[in-house]
Amino acid sequence: MGTKASGEVCGECGGRTYLIERRGDRAHARVCTCSARCGLCEGRGYAYETREETFSAKVGPKRYEVLVPCVCQHRARRIDHFNTVGLPSVAAHASFENYRAFNEAQDRARNGAMHFAHHYAKGGVNKGFILSGPVGTGKTHLLAATLKHLVLEVGLEARYVEISLLYATIRRGFQEGKSGGEIIGPLSDVEVLAIDEMGKGRGSQFEMETLDELIARRYNAGRTTLFATNYSLEPERKSVRTAAPSGYRTTEDAKTAARDVELLRERVGERIYSRLCEMCSFVELPKETPDQRRMRQELDVRPGPPPGGMRGPGR
Ligand SMILES: Nc1ncnc2c1ncn2[C@@H]1O[C@H](COP(=O)(O)OP(=O)(O)OP(=O)(O)O)[C@@H](O)[C@H]1O
Ligand SMILES: [Mg+2]
Ligand SMILES: [Zn+2]
Ligand SMILES: [Zn+2]
Repeated sequence: MGTKASGEVCGECGGRTYLIERRGDRAHARVCTCSARCGLCEGRGYAYETREETFSAKVGPKRYEVLVPCVCQHRARRIDHFNTVGLPSVAAHASFENYRAFNEAQDRARNGAMHFAHHYAKGGVNKGFILSGPVGTGKTHLLAATLKHLVLEVGLEARYVEISLLYATIRRGFQEGKSGGEIIGPLSDVEVLAIDEMGKGRGSQFEMETLDELIARRYNAGRTTLFATNYSLEPERKSVRTAAPSGYRTTEDAKTAARDVELLRERVGERIYSRLCEMCSFVELPKETPDQRRMRQELDVRPGPPPGGMRGPGR
């Protein structure tokens, strides 16, 4: 599986046996054609496994064969599960390998996420992480790469939610007569939850209570949660450090500098922030980290061959 009869690795899935594609607004996984027919069980779904056990001391250990679900069944389950995680289609191709680090903090962010994913202790205590940084710096990319690995390679249950969509879903649920708990329940219980855009929203009482309940429930149960945010993780405003040598700055400048660093702590409140400190390692990407969406756009508009110029004649 994942390899051709010749022993060559499949060029389409790189030997992973599954592919992740964009489908509507979601990232969607499916079994690669190279593995559609399982070579181990020939499509039966079960395979024999040899076991050894001692039933009687006189006879000694005996070997016998049992029918167990084939690996292709486990894979099918993981793929089905992946399709309920809720990853956005823009993150379909996100991986640790195609994440580029432009600075030391991005390097730390990638290594931290990779270490977390590769060393996740099933059923154990796993400290999550929060990625904070400017737009387009790959925060959602790393959350997606992490969840992909956990779900498809480790076999965990995970969910991804964008915070404003979560609030909207709960509000809609309320209108349909559901309680907040009914909607938050599954998110409280899932093994790994990634909350994107933390701190976003209007900060209404409803939003704060929803978030508080979700975080408190996960915290109390010792569950692992990952976050991404555009807000700073600093506990205090760095008005002293961001200020130029005294005498060069007006008080107006100082006020502007303080205003442009918005703190997550102030956005989510002390109760939540305090729990986050215990639940997660913090990685903050500096303000000058390049926005990949803009970098791509700039590459696209650079002078080059006209659109379609690469095509052959008569098309
Ligand atoms: N460091 C990076 N290496 C490779 N690709 C990147 C990197 N940063 C961003 N990208 C790509 O750029 C696009 C935007 O990235 P992403 O959505 O992860 O940014 P973000 O940090 O979550 O931004 P926002 O704060 O706006 O949500 C994605 O297609 C992503 O794969
Ligand atoms: Mg994002
Ligand atoms: Zn393949
Ligand atoms: Zn099989």
